[in-house]
Amino acid sequence: MTDEKIRDLRNALGNFATGITVITALDESNEPKGMTANSFSSVSLEPPLVSWCVGRESRLYDLFQTTTHFAVNILHSGQQSVSQLFANPDENKFEQTPWHKGINGLPLLDDCHCQLQCEIVHRYSGGDHCILIGRILDFTSQPMDPLIFHGGKYQELK
Ligand SMILES: Cc1cc2nc3c(=O)[nH]c(=O)nc-3n(C[C@H](O)[C@H](O)[C@H](O)COP(=O)(O)O)c2cc1C
Repeated sequence: MTDEKIRDLRNALGNFATGITVITALDESNEPKGMTANSFSSVSLEPPLVSWCVGRESRLYDLFQTTTHFAVNILHSGQQSVSQLFANPDENKFEQTPWHKGINGLPLLDDCHCQLQCEIVHRYSGGDHCILIGRILDFTSQPMDPLIFHGGKYQELK
């Protein structure tokens, strides 16, 4: 496809409104890492499975090939700055936002809409992304308005 066609496709796919998550994990030095992702989806209730995709160009790609667990932090409408922080290649993300430790030391962002702690059970190649399937080990959820991404922009429920 031409660059123009790829841009058009990205814009077309952006018509699908999603929530926003920050996917977190520990690296091999037990340092917390995370990235903004809107490719998250629920997959199955029994067993409880979710999926998301990591791009092959991401600096965290190798980490998500080797780590055994990840956490899904689903953001609320007041966390646009958190989404922006974790969408940038900043080294000190976890010094700029409060967090705590979960199962196996998984980094969990404070005050999220919903949190899922997962063990990775499958990885599939998906073109320029890798599709990760996680089994939910524990979760929390609180009633809040979600942060929404649509048409390349952050939105709130009206
Ligand atoms: C709204 C939004 C959604 C994103 N969703 C994904 C995603 O699902 N998968 C992905 O690999 N990158 C996604 N990204 C890009 C990563 O957040 C970004 O590449 C990363 O955090 C910073 O660069 P690095 O991966 O090179 O460190 C998204 C970015 C934004 C702003």
